[in-house]
Amino acid sequence: MASATATKRAESKAPGPKHNIEAVRQEYYERIAKHSMTPLWKVMDSVVTKEPVTRCQPVVWHFDDIKRLVMESGGLITAEEANRRVLILENPALPGQSKATNTLFAGVQMILPGEVAPAHRHVSSAIRFVLDGEGAYTAVEGEKAFMAPGDFVITANWAPHDHGNTSKKPMLWLDVLDFPQVNFFEASFAEQFESATQSTSRQDGDSLAFYGSGVLPDGTPARPNSSPVINYTYARTRPIVERMMKAGDIDKRHGARVRYANPVNGGPVLPTMGAQLAMFPKGFKGEKYRSTDGTIFVCAEGRGSTTVDGKVLEWGPWDVFVVPPWKHYAHNAAKESVLFSISDRPSQEALGIWREDTRAH
Ligand SMILES: [Fe+2]
Repeated sequence: MASATATKRAESKAPGPKHNIEAVRQEYYERIAKHSMTPLWKVMDSVVTKEPVTRCQPVVWHFDDIKRLVMESGGLITAEEANRRVLILENPALPGQSKATNTLFAGVQMILPGEVAPAHRHVSSAIRFVLDGEGAYTAVEGEKAFMAPGDFVITANWAPHDHGNTSKKPMLWLDVLDFPQVNFFEASFAEQFESATQSTSRQDGDSLAFYGSGVLPDGTPARPNSSPVINYTYARTRPIVERMMKAGDIDKRHGARVRYANPVNGGPVLPTMGAQLAMFPKGFKGEKYRSTDGTIFVCAEGRGSTTVDGKVLEWGPWDVFVVPPWKHYAHNAAKESVLFSISDRPSQEALGIWREDTRAH
């Protein structure tokens, strides 16, 4: 019996007729698998694709649904108990992965009047884009930034932060974090502080006064990899895009758009995530565009739609939507509108892999 098997194996190894080759290869693959090896030629086309391939899909979350469901969570758990009371906006094509795109987390956080989300810090960087409410704060490294709708607040890598609401209304904001990128590198650290809030040694507005006013304090590093300004208010940024639009400085794809910048070196606000604000005139019909960064948009004002890969996403105030990497998209504005956006473009640019396609189609 043993000798018959040996004979069979010897035959299968010999260069045989063509119809035997698949069986010979299969036997070989099984044998090398036992040594944790596998042939590249079987997977080459799927690991080195001719064009970017994304698993995430275009999706919109309407603010009516977000607010109703997030408010309901207020009766289920306190901010302190939850540590962060956040509902994840999860891409339906990536279930169970806590991702809006392959590289970005998005969630909506709520703080009720009198609540505190306790101080902590982590390697993942975060941004907040305020959706509803007024007067709650984010404290970053001891500086409190009081927030209003449309404000954009950053929490850089390892910066201690807590949130509190001293107003009389619930406050909701979009959190976007880069932890899918950090976790890809398996490089996450986090630390909870003993006291719920940080002692505030700095005043609201200090970081803008020190770093965003055309002067820099002695000893400021020349090339910080994240912005030292912690909040970019809507009151300050909106008039700039309005002025651009009125001057006719309107891109055929992106409208009248600015990039939030690190005022020390002109770089992105964070090394892993970059943000923009764009205004569109009523009746704007954008040209098609695509780039390799996956983008999360939030409508701050107006009404319109974005067609992504043939799918129409309708949006109005505080709706959130996702455009996956390398999918053609075009914005249409039914009314004068403002869109905030955030993507992983700075990471891709730092690695030299970012590409865009500006050809008219
Ligand atoms: Fe945090």
